[in-house]
Amino acid sequence: MAFTLGILTVSDKGSRGERIDESGKVIKQILAALDVRVLKYEVVPDEKEIISAKLVEWVDRDKIDLIVTTGGTGLTPRDVTPEATLAIIDKEVPGFAEAMRAESLKKTPMAVLSRAVSGIRKRSLIINLPGSPKAVRECLEVISPAFSHAVETLRGQSGDCADKSHK
Ligand code: MTE
Repeated sequence: MAFTLGILTVSDKGSRGERIDESGKVIKQILAALDVRVLKYEVVPDEKEIISAKLVEWVDRDKIDLIVTTGGTGLTPRDVTPEATLAIIDKEVPGFAEAMRAESLKKTPMAVLSRAVSGIRKRSLIINLPGSPKAVRECLEVISPAFSHAVETLRGQSGDCADKSHK
């Protein structure tokens, strides 16, 4: 099923043009395997209000099905992506974040340091990923198989979940 994608890279350095955004590229590459159209792609600084405003715009105005953020989920004072996301979602969908941390822990003990959250606003799914390209790859591998069915469900188009539960 075709759906639209927004990629929001959260990085102070990236937003100033001091760092190339490899993680955004990795998201694009991996999700190209699904039937997605990248509608929006931006790099913003680690500012809560800016991140929240961008997410709201992409949901309320552009009606993007899936928004994936990368970066700003850690423990430094500048890391506010989870707070910016929690401020604008209607409901958490904790399974995505739980699955990412659980599976990532098998790869690195540092997985516990990501405070990434996942949830829905209106009919859009918003997922935080950690910032490094490696983490993006490892996390998307775990959760991307559920994206199409999540979007179908949000659109109210899903049939029987039982048909989707096999691998
Ligand atoms: N998750 C996976 N799968 N692989 C990783 O290498 N790195 C961790 C963690 N999650 C990592 C991971 C590290 S080192 C940090 S600091 C946190 O994500 C937060 O990253 P962020 O601040 O770039 O979002």
